[in-house]
Amino acid sequence: MRHHPDDLVVKFDAFTYTGNLENLEDVKVHPNYRFVHGDLQKTMDISKAFSEYNVEAVIHLAAESHADRSIHDHADFIETNIKGILNLLETAR
Ligand SMILES: NC(=O)c1ccc[n+]([C@@H]2O[C@H](COP(=O)([O-])OP(=O)(O)OC[C@H]3O[C@@H](n4cnc5c(N)ncnc54)[C@H](O)[C@@H]3O)[C@@H](O)[C@H]2O)c1
Repeated sequence: MRHHPDDLVVKFDAFTYTGNLENLEDVKVHPNYRFVHGDLQKTMDISKAFSEYNVEAVIHLAAESHADRSIHDHADFIETNIKGILNLLETAR
């Protein structure tokens, strides 16, 4: 963001149990930063973000990332890590 002051950076995050707002303390007041509370499991959330901002590139890091949790309950892993990526790709296309 420091090196590309003309680019807007939009963070899209559902803030699940791993999301931590404190990680964003340094950037939240930055003029070219925006935050969208959205869920990759909801196509409407993604398309709303795409229509609100002129998105030119996507860096996809959102995930159910705790492998141990997938053993106890796999549903969110399928919904976010597989279907969520498909939702994102289809909307981007
Ligand atoms: N941390 C590492 O060292 C590392 C190394 C290699 C690869 N990765 C990969 O990078 C990705 C991110 O890892 P991390 O360590 O930052 O994970 P993390 O669990 O800390 O962060 C994941 C983020 O995704 C968000 N999220 C989860 N489900 C969502 C949904 N349905 N919609 C929108 N947002 C959602 C969470 O709120 C959280 O902010 C994962 O795919 C992981 O496998 C991480």
